[in-house]
Amino acid sequence: IGRERPGLWGEGKEQGVGVDKIIIEGGELLKGTIRASGAKNAALPILAASLLTEEWCTFHNVPDLVDVNTIVRLLVDLGSEVERDGAVLRTRTRRVGNWEASYDLVKTMRASILVLGPLVARTGKARVSLPGGCAIGARPVNLHLKALQELGAHIELRDGYVEATTAGLKGAPIYFDTSTVTGTENIMMAAVLAEGTTILKNAAREPEVENLALILNGMGAKIRGAGTDEIIIEGVEALGSVEGSIISDRVETGTFMIAAVLTGGDVVIEDCEPGHVEALVAKLREAGAQIDIKEKTIRITAGPNVRSVDVTTHPYPGFPTDLQAQMVALMAVGNGISVVRETVFENRFMHINELMRMGAEITIDGNRAIVRGVERLKGAPVMATDLRASASLVLAGLSAEGKTELERVYHIDRGYERIEEKLSRLGANIRRIKQ
Ligand code: EPZ
Repeated sequence: IGRERPGLWGEGKEQGVGVDKIIIEGGELLKGTIRASGAKNAALPILAASLLTEEWCTFHNVPDLVDVNTIVRLLVDLGSEVERDGAVLRTRTRRVGNWEASYDLVKTMRASILVLGPLVARTGKARVSLPGGCAIGARPVNLHLKALQELGAHIELRDGYVEATTAGLKGAPIYFDTSTVTGTENIMMAAVLAEGTTILKNAAREPEVENLALILNGMGAKIRGAGTDEIIIEGVEALGSVEGSIISDRVETGTFMIAAVLTGGDVVIEDCEPGHVEALVAKLREAGAQIDIKEKTIRITAGPNVRSVDVTTHPYPGFPTDLQAQMVALMAVGNGISVVRETVFENRFMHINELMRMGAEITIDGNRAIVRGVERLKGAPVMATDLRASASLVLAGLSAEGKTELERVYHIDRGYERIEEKLSRLGANIRRIKQ
């Protein structure tokens, strides 16, 4: 307790580190049943929320991912005790001993910004490194800071750090200029201990925001409207302990659905949330797939061919930007021309150059990718640049002719729990080479 036991956080044999490679021999169709893990983008804010109470928090269905390990390391740095047993993680922060999230840590995971709201709410101060840009875009956090100021925090930017202090946060009406997932989450966490009521307008509606609100209410917070674009938070004096679950990862679910269609397979995804992937279900049906949905199960069977369809990404419940790269990999072997528009991030087409090295015919025109389907891609050595681009290259390799070698596998380990094991259980010829 209170120490990070190496090997427990997926740093051991089962999770790659540094320069592992993934080798894929394409052509196998995927068949069988698979289970998606807990959602990375729900686990990160929920773990940050545990800073808001001095009581024990118990979370189930926590995925074993590099990014989860990173935020656990940050929590321990700040003074939390953390223990983990498989997918159950328990944490308690009796006292915040340190208010700083260092650049060294934040530069490896920008979602570390999620400790800003809880630290300010719990202790009245925080010093968090600005995340800086990343591969997919500038990704500023100006809306997080503006909203925190409106709640009464004094914000200064110094040496690349955000320094926030307050004598006590006060509820206020907050309007987000654009829908921001972690911005909504950060401010929701700051507002739960503020004096008075906060109303978030144009709030993000992602299921991960709703999962966080459920956990916060389990700790004694008073939040209404999470999952809609208007969230009302009545501040309370203090929060208590909570036991709750991380929702199933809709991006992992969607990635496996696209893999099934791309390989001409027939896959059942169990213990998932079909309601969280409705935009993808609609698109894949349009592309010719057969999809049967039960309570917590999705069965997806590839159609006779892949029809080219147009896709535009939007904040939830629109088509998710986190599945755009994977969809481009599918459209690369569509039977016509597909226009894929990325409206959320300004530079989320890095996967396209690598797909073109595998024979894809794609032209980029501003925020649109024009994808002319080809018969089949050809395996090649490719480079991962960011998490979802890596997933798209794995998918392309599964259906390509010949061998695909994916370098810099650490990108994919950030958001997928042992992806090669899950896919090989479905019949893929995929393995990890430890360097
Ligand atoms: C979250 O990032 C996810 N990460 C991302 O998943 C996801 O792609 C993104 O939401 C969109 O769905 C986590 O939840 C940890 P945003 P976030 O703030 O919150 C602009 C993955 O692969 N913006 O909703 O950083 C921003 O530049 C990752 O799992 C501002 O301008 O995204 C972007 O264009 C990648 N100012 C847009 O809003 C701000 O202060 C949406 O960003 C905040 C955001």
